[in-house]
Amino acid sequence: MNRDRSLPAKAAITAVGSYVPEDILSNQDLAQMVDTNDEWIRSRTGIVERRIARNPEHATGYMAIQAAQSLLQKKNIDPTTIDVVLVATITPDYTVSPTAPYVATEIGAGGALAFDLQAACSGFLYGLSTASAMIASGLHQRVLLIGADKMSSIVDYSDRSTCIIFGDGAAAVLVEPSDNQWGYEGGVFGNNGIGSQLLNVPHGGSRQPFNADSYAAGQHYIQQEGRTVFKYAVNHMASSSLALLDRYNLTADQINYVLPHQANKRIIDATREAIGVEEEKVLTNIAHYGNTTAATIPLLLSDFEQQFSPGDRLILTAFGGGFTWGAAYITWNY
Ligand code: ACO
Repeated sequence: MNRDRSLPAKAAITAVGSYVPEDILSNQDLAQMVDTNDEWIRSRTGIVERRIARNPEHATGYMAIQAAQSLLQKKNIDPTTIDVVLVATITPDYTVSPTAPYVATEIGAGGALAFDLQAACSGFLYGLSTASAMIASGLHQRVLLIGADKMSSIVDYSDRSTCIIFGDGAAAVLVEPSDNQWGYEGGVFGNNGIGSQLLNVPHGGSRQPFNADSYAAGQHYIQQEGRTVFKYAVNHMASSSLALLDRYNLTADQINYVLPHQANKRIIDATREAIGVEEEKVLTNIAHYGNTTAATIPLLLSDFEQQFSPGDRLILTAFGGGFTWGAAYITWNY
């Protein structure tokens, strides 16, 4: 690879890999557990089934390792050449310590700078901006960015307003200096701290340390005001995507693919309408995985990788806890 280390480099995604657990939790299964039904879940969310890591040994770190190894094997990459391992997750194996060092050690990247990034459903997008900046700085050459979440570990399977949405999964991308003109072009991001009150796991953090009452009250599970979160999500995924198009002087018909965070098919549809792109350009796999939080966008990259051509214009957009949101523009590298 020919690059001038004294100049900022353009970063590019050069490889992808993924892992989802084998076990399927269908809408019919959920209808046996809570007062819901397949028709309601399909029509209100677009979800048909989700994957669940039932094996207690298969935590977020395990799934991240599987995703990373699938990427390394596919492209025959020597793990010792990876100098950063970044895991975006809200379900780390342990609150302390981070999951990334465990993942890095297990895949053979013990010499890497390894850390977690917590931006909920925007985690992969924020990680991509971080990884691209690390490459552009010239300080790092190979960043392995993984979005991984075992949402089943924080979901209350007696709460029909949350248990129908989430699933488990992981996907990884390799970010390197681009060897052509294509790669990460830039992003538009935003936040609103009001989200900490509208979407959270109430206990277990420093604000409300876990105690005996937390467990009995189910305060260790994820909770959200779904309808309010829905409106924020549509508003900000649409507005950040439009701001991005504006910044790069792009019209909707110049976009090849939109890869939206997979939280709810109705959020995806409303975002698509606001951006004004044709339905076939908007990639989805929510029907089969549900919302895997930090893993949704890299899972799309992995599932649709064969469809992309060099130079394709991709818009990635996400909204999540915090609140955090954003949209990123990438030109596909390979
Ligand atoms: N089955 C059947 N009925 C249900 C279910 C269910 N699973 N869940 C709720 N209902 C009922 C409600 O009780 C309510 O009944 P009522 O009218 O008699 O009171 C009715 O359906 C409508 O409820 P809403 O909450 O308004 O349903 P909505 O259409 O908003 O769908 C959902 C709920 C799916 C949660 C939606 O609000 C949503 O997707 N929100 C956004 C989620 C999101 O994007 N989260 C952010 C990312 S997560 C992260 O960052 C970790």
